[in-house]
Amino acid sequence: MKTKYYALFRQCSAVFTDLAMIMDNPLVNLKHRRILLGITGGIAAYKAAELTRRFQDHGADVRVIMTRSATEFITPLTMQALSKHPVHLDLLNPDTESVMGHIELARWADLILIAPASANFLARFASGHGDDLLTTVCLAAECPVAIAPAMNQAMWAKTVTQTNRNTLLARGAHILGPDEGLQACGEIGAGRLMAVDDLILRSSELFSTGTLQGKTVVITAGPTREAIDPVRFISNHSSGKQGYALAEAASNAGAEVILVSGPTHLDVPERVHRIDVISAIDMHDAVQNVIDRADIFIGVAAVADYRPKLAANQKIKKDQNGHQSLLLEFVENPDIIKAVATRPNRPFTVGFAAETQRLETYARQKLVDKQLDMVVANNVGDTSIGFNADVNAITIVTNHTSQVLPLMSKRALSERLIELIAAQISHQG
Ligand code: CTP
Repeated sequence: MKTKYYALFRQCSAVFTDLAMIMDNPLVNLKHRRILLGITGGIAAYKAAELTRRFQDHGADVRVIMTRSATEFITPLTMQALSKHPVHLDLLNPDTESVMGHIELARWADLILIAPASANFLARFASGHGDDLLTTVCLAAECPVAIAPAMNQAMWAKTVTQTNRNTLLARGAHILGPDEGLQACGEIGAGRLMAVDDLILRSSELFSTGTLQGKTVVITAGPTREAIDPVRFISNHSSGKQGYALAEAASNAGAEVILVSGPTHLDVPERVHRIDVISAIDMHDAVQNVIDRADIFIGVAAVADYRPKLAANQKIKKDQNGHQSLLLEFVENPDIIKAVATRPNRPFTVGFAAETQRLETYARQKLVDKQLDMVVANNVGDTSIGFNADVNAITIVTNHTSQVLPLMSKRALSERLIELIAAQISHQG
């Protein structure tokens, strides 16, 4: 027992050393990012090849959509070979739709970058067209959309193009460039595709909002395991995906993140420090060890409410008692989040509620019972979302508000949730 607590203590103190050593390099934000690269027709289309390679160098996964006119400038085969995925060309192609349709593509992406974006694309996207794959995916997207225009300088300067640019900016698109200089047509002016290095940097910065800069966030994630004997335990179906996605989003928002995790198969997100635990009691102790530093606590873990009263020292044999049934007595586990929320100088405390019905009612009940600042409820009765899925839909409840975030990737959802938490904190002053 002593050895176990010493190990936990060692893990917790290592957190502070590691966090102090983290270097601020925005390009690490690209690691494991899903970038959907849209290529439209223009001479700069050939630079999409270099862009793809550079994204991959920084650990991003790139998939490509090309418009028909883009294929006049660079072949889909080149982009397929570089991205290592089939290139998506048509809105209604039965082959690609059956593998990954336009809505799945939009949900898959963490960022959509259109580079180069032609004047025609700007006009069509600004006026809400959805008559080809690229504009449809952009319309369906919940993730950030970045547009890197490239065209002749006179076309860029035209009032109509500038109006389209401003419309897209006002709707939340990120416009990257264009650069000024000598153009392929021999003219000089603004209209060159932004340099690849700059596109890479600006894209990575889009994942780093800085809204939690200087804050420390402690997150619990995954299931806990409650031992019955040395080889058996009671647990649940939590995959840890939602908690890990939140840890990554909080880290990208500039926070120092300590992730107290039950057993999962997931990799630790970049710059996040993970403390591994097994049981609810371990998780409780690990949280108590680090909670003094926390500005925000998010309890995503599916903590077992009860544990067997006595974990047998030896494997329980099935005929041990001469009975055909086995009775186990359970005792209640500590409520980790309540212990945090009832501290004198408590952090902003967010709980999760996995429900199968009456989401908002039960979420409000937990908000009050556990004295939380925010409860995030999701419907685990729907097996296509929640526990093991990559997508989720949630209802967020605070004392005075209730907000539904529709079905989207756990990553996109986490980014929205982190922004909401950051907004609440700055509101509280
Ligand atoms: N939680 C915790 N410690 C526990 C149990 C739960 O920190 N021992 C946290 C979870 O991480 C989550 C929230 O509390 O943030 C879930 O609340 P809880 O009441 O445990 O949910 P359920 O077990 O689903 O409750 P019920 O069975 O009443 O629906």
